[in-house]
Amino acid sequence: MSLAPTIDIGPFLSQKSKLWKNDGIRSLMVLEDNPGIISLLSGRPNSSTFPFQSITLKLKPTLAGLPSATEGADPLTLTIENEELNEALQYGMTPGVPRLLDWLANFQTHVHKRVLDGSWQVHMGSGSQELSADIPISYWSMRDLGEPWVFLATLPCTLIEVNTDSQGLSPAKLETILSRWDRTHPGKPYPKALYTIPSGSNPTGASIPEVRKIEVLKLAKKYNFLVLEDDAYAFLYYGPEGQQARSYFALEVEVNAEKGRVVRFDSFSKVVSSGMRLGYITAAPGICNAVGLITTNTNLHTPTVTQIMAYKLLAGWGPDGFLAHCAGVAVFYRSQRDMFERVARKHLSGLAEWTTPVAGMFLYIKLLVHASNPDADCWELISTKAVAKGILAVAGRAFMPLRGPTPFARISFSIVEEDEADEACRRLREVILEARAEAEAAVRTTE
Ligand SMILES: Cc1ncc(COP(=O)(O)O)c(C=O)c1O
Repeated sequence: MSLAPTIDIGPFLSQKSKLWKNDGIRSLMVLEDNPGIISLLSGRPNSSTFPFQSITLKLKPTLAGLPSATEGADPLTLTIENEELNEALQYGMTPGVPRLLDWLANFQTHVHKRVLDGSWQVHMGSGSQELSADIPISYWSMRDLGEPWVFLATLPCTLIEVNTDSQGLSPAKLETILSRWDRTHPGKPYPKALYTIPSGSNPTGASIPEVRKIEVLKLAKKYNFLVLEDDAYAFLYYGPEGQQARSYFALEVEVNAEKGRVVRFDSFSKVVSSGMRLGYITAAPGICNAVGLITTNTNLHTPTVTQIMAYKLLAGWGPDGFLAHCAGVAVFYRSQRDMFERVARKHLSGLAEWTTPVAGMFLYIKLLVHASNPDADCWELISTKAVAKGILAVAGRAFMPLRGPTPFARISFSIVEEDEADEACRRLREVILEARAEAEAAVRTTE
């Protein structure tokens, strides 16, 4: 067991999070299973009045099945019935269904090689986006750090932008901001958190290499901030084998000889189902408890039905079965990427540039809207002209807290078929050529 100390989370918690109080019911619910306890506690509806008899889930026959299905059971069928059904249909515990939490804690140990030593725990959310919006550190304080292209949930916080390139977040740029902090922000406290999407970033598609993560972690210790690792695309890695960077969560003890500085967000959306709305954080107990207080006071808990569906699937698969499934999903997205790049090269060569992603479902395309100005903003082109031609994509400005300008647009290749992708790129070519012709005509008029 590692003797590295756990950092004190208290100073990172926001004032707002300290206003939430335990509700006096949920704090006692943990005692209900104690022997001899008769609970008159909560206003749970009586399960006998619920109209459902059972839930049967059929897995796709293309899946290998559940290796640990009980003797004689169909390995492609999951059934939720009797007591388990009552539990699934009933109010549940705030942090999540306990056996799912245990499964996930073991899974995190398996994947990130972090000993389950009390320095971290898992807390469920109704999607990881809910958790990143609820995270109770000084996240709303307008002085936290993030990539210029950030995922939408963080936009209200007006982050301080840290430049990224094709390799993701730049530690050199981060260091520059922090080392000049006293000069650029006299009298202002240092940022308390860095928000980052390390794998197949949304929107840039970039994945940060391990050497950069190590530099970022060292800076986190030196300047005392938390790293919010939003890793929704971690399992959609399809780059060269053996080269996937370890997570910030995996690296923090080795790099900084401390625990608790990384708050990790995982999501089931991209590998199991997005409609089930299941995500989880892996973080210091102080963070998870503070998130739990917000959950208790807002939506009580993440839906139990989908948590139990997930548990049955995961328990049947085991950690390696789940990872094998994720690897199959990643192969699917790699072929989508290859297909999209093929048609993009056919129609957009000379009119757009991009870096090939090694994870995720996005191409971040730099549109060369003006022949003479490679950095011309593409907002107008994407949000008006492209829409008029029947193509929807997202201009990079939509993801930038400080609102750009930027020539980049996010293209999602996750669900599009090859013939549609081909037509979309053909139309985008027309839009770019028209915009270039207009720009050239405007230059001629002013000459
Ligand atoms: C980086 C990132 N985090 C989180 C999410 C949302 O995940 P969830 O569906 O678990 O809320 C997304 C969804 O697109 C995402 O791109």
